Amino acid sequence: MGAGNDTHISGFLLLGLSNDEELQPLIFAVFLSMYLITVFGNLLIILAVSSDSHLHTPMYFLLANLSFVDICFTSTTIPKMLVNIQTHSKVITYTGCISQICFSVLFAGWDYFLLALMAYDRFVAICHPLHYRVIMNPQLCGLLILVSWIMSALNSLLQSLMVLQLSFCTDLEIPHFFCELNQMIQLACSDTFLNDTVLYVSIVLLAGGFLVGIFYSYSKIISSIRRISSAQGKYKAFSTCASHLSVVSLFYCTVLGVYLISASTQSSHASAVASVMYTVVTPMLNPFIYSLRNRDIKGALIRFFKRATINGTIVLVVKKRP
Ligand SMILES: *[C@@H]1O[C@H](CO)[C@@H](O)[C@H](O)[C@H]1NC(C)=O
Repeated sequence: MGAGNDTHISGFLLLGLSNDEELQPLIFAVFLSMYLITVFGNLLIILAVSSDSHLHTPMYFLLANLSFVDICFTSTTIPKMLVNIQTHSKVITYTGCISQICFSVLFAGWDYFLLALMAYDRFVAICHPLHYRVIMNPQLCGLLILVSWIMSALNSLLQSLMVLQLSFCTDLEIPHFFCELNQMIQLACSDTFLNDTVLYVSIVLLAGGFLVGIFYSYSKIISSIRRISSAQGKYKAFSTCASHLSVVSLFYCTVLGVYLISASTQSSHASAVASVMYTVVTPMLNPFIYSLRNRDIKGALIRFFKRATINGTIVLVVKKRP
């Protein structure tokens, strides 16, 4: 296979999750519902946090940012897949594919940053409760979010520029439902050594670095919870970080699971199916984990809807008057 000069190919074929024509309506329905639930559920969290001044704390700002990132992340992949199923087409343009890579890497990276920041926030809240307000002030929180955004933007820019260097020959079929970075690198017919290296180094640095940070924070949290003498105090301290711990473990367990499955089967189709877990299911579950376990979020939503119905009634009454 010689490196073709034909880098100006017009597009790729996204093979999707299944070739079976009869399964397409089912896949469409399932992904459409998961997408709508993700957008709606995460919007509710953003609404609850921004409408309620009790929730204007770093912990909930981070949560709202995570919800925002989840909406953006699923929006880079699922709508295109749904359109393709609906129009019976598998085509994605070269530009479309590169932008999917760029945005999915950007939002996935930001997701990792936010999870690590949330662990740090809980660490400060539980291990240094007296200094919490001083350490995690709104300025620092905003700054950390900004820095994490810039870092993931740089990572995404680097990865996308590396993909732009690749040349593609005849094999333009992507066995996935979106243009995933790793699949694209495997598809290229030019030398991908540099791409692989950059990809693995960034995965090890980012995911590994955050994992170490998260483990450190939680080991400190657990040892300081164990030092609390009263059972009630223990429960209270634990419950503030239980939902976050479930999100982090869900996120890392699915990514690890997908990695193990892809390593053991060697089938890119199986790994595409497995990656549905962290690309679609995790962002969908986040709002449920937080809102079902969290009294503050529930309370904020109930107050919001009460206010909305009262305002709605007032508007109706005012309008009805001549
Ligand atoms: C993200 O965090 C910043 C800084 O704390 C906050 O001002 C902003 O409202 C948050 N974004 C969303 C979508 O909630």
